[in-house]
Amino acid sequence: AKILVLHGPNLNLLGVREPQIYGRETLVDINQRLAARALEAGHELAWCQSNAEHELIGRIHQGRDDQTAMILINAGALTHTSIALRDALASVAIPFIEVHLSNVFAREAFRHHSYLADLAVGVICGFGGDSYRLALEAAIQRLRAPAS
Ligand code: DQA
Repeated sequence: AKILVLHGPNLNLLGVREPQIYGRETLVDINQRLAARALEAGHELAWCQSNAEHELIGRIHQGRDDQTAMILINAGALTHTSIALRDALASVAIPFIEVHLSNVFAREAFRHHSYLADLAVGVICGFGGDSYRLALEAAIQRLRAPAS
C-alpha cells in the first residue's frame, strides 16, 4: 500500500535546528530509514516536506487521487494553528498518525493543543527521529489488520 510522510514547516532544517530539542538526524536520514522499512514490509513510501501550508494541503488532496492508504504527518507548528490542514485531512478521509519529534506536552502551553489529534488514528511524540519509526510500525500493523 502507499504510505505518505508529510513534514511541515522548518523540518527541512532537522539536524541543524535546535539539536538539543530535535536531535542531529537530518530529514534525509529519517526519510531513507522509513522508505527502507516500508519497502521491507511490502509498502511504498512517499514523502514531502513543505514550509507552505497550501502545498501540504495540495499533497493531502493528491493522496486521495493516488490511493494513499495511510499518512504520517508532522505538521510542525501548523499542528497548533491550522484549521485548514485539519479540514484537508478530514476531507480526504485517509487515516493518519500525528508525529512529533519532541514531547510537545513537556514544552510551552501553546504546543499542547493540536488541531489534528482528535481526527488521528493516534499520536506519537517525544522519541526524536524514532517517533517516525514508531509511527511507521503502527501504520504497518494497521494496514495488516485495519479493524484492530
Ligand atoms: C514539532 C513540535 C512543534 O511544536 C514545532 O512547532 C515543530 C516541531 C516536533 O516535531 O516536535 O516545528 O512538530
